[in-house]
Amino acid sequence: MQSIKWSNGRLTLLNQTLLPGIVDYIECGDYRRVAEAIRRLEVRGAPAIGAAAAFGLVLGARELAGQSLDFREALRQIADELRQTRPTAVNLFWAINRMLSAADKAPSTVSPVELLALLEQEALRIMEEDREVNGRIAQHGLVLFPHAVEAVLTHCNAGALATVDIGTALGVIRQGWQAGKFKRVFADETRPLLQGARLTAWELKEDGIPVTLITDSMAGWVMKQKKVAAVIVGADRIATNGDVANKIGTYSVAVLARQHGIPFYVAAPVSTFDFSIAGGDEIPIEERNPQEVTAIGGTLIAPDGIDVFNPAFDVTPAELVSAIITERGVLRPPYGPAIRSLRK
Ligand code: MRU
Repeated sequence: MQSIKWSNGRLTLLNQTLLPGIVDYIECGDYRRVAEAIRRLEVRGAPAIGAAAAFGLVLGARELAGQSLDFREALRQIADELRQTRPTAVNLFWAINRMLSAADKAPSTVSPVELLALLEQEALRIMEEDREVNGRIAQHGLVLFPHAVEAVLTHCNAGALATVDIGTALGVIRQGWQAGKFKRVFADETRPLLQGARLTAWELKEDGIPVTLITDSMAGWVMKQKKVAAVIVGADRIATNGDVANKIGTYSVAVLARQHGIPFYVAAPVSTFDFSIAGGDEIPIEERNPQEVTAIGGTLIAPDGIDVFNPAFDVTPAELVSAIITERGVLRPPYGPAIRSLRK
């Protein structure tokens, strides 16, 4: 189950729009196809989007290497196109900026072919680091489970499909289950695009981890009835005050967790923190096509032409977040000082 693969100069993405019914891969021959894959959610999840965009720049650089133009300027234009694909997950912008600064740091005498090799190395590093980061987040997450509990609940998909390796929230869940810390995972289906049903439930089932799928509207009742001891979710962007943007529905789950006295944990790499913004109000929230709400699997489930609001993400205020699990350790409130120290 590998969401993204770079081999012999070719980028292969698992087409996540077809899961779980069809396991099919997309070969991205150029950066335009990478941009399209990000836009269409064929590759999705904050860290995976970042890694895909990094290789998009490698593919762009390969096109530029044979042309007589200002390489760095042309690369910046490609970066701008990739930046337009999705607005909320900050890992996209983080990875693109990191690639551009790798190119900028190289001496001006370096040839385009050498720059291309350097960019490929940087993209591979981004991918490899995400693998290590996933492992460290999972290890740190275990600290939050000193005793075995009955069950945990997750929303959306923050697993292998959303990252390069075992995932962020699902990395903690995988590790926790293996260590005997809980017996069952409840997965919200995550309307409207059903990442919980199609992706999280599939990943956990493939791994043999007991998972129970519920609709989003069941989360409160399940917390009350089924001994849910913690909620663990991923994140797409975290502000410096600890406000967390994640898949739409996450905020409701956090409110429900507070009502039931259940800790609400966020698992995310440092690359998901946006050190340039003070609070969640500054996070751009993607709005997607109304048809994602009015139709399921191509079948209309609402009156034709109905007014629809379809934000793809929401922001959970820091006061509802019990802890943030990063590769550098577990952050606890107050988040301001803890997050500022991550920047160093
Ligand atoms: O719209 P998506 O599928 O890209 O949204 C994904 C999420 O919101 C995930 O929960 C998030 O990226 C967590 S990162 C592992």
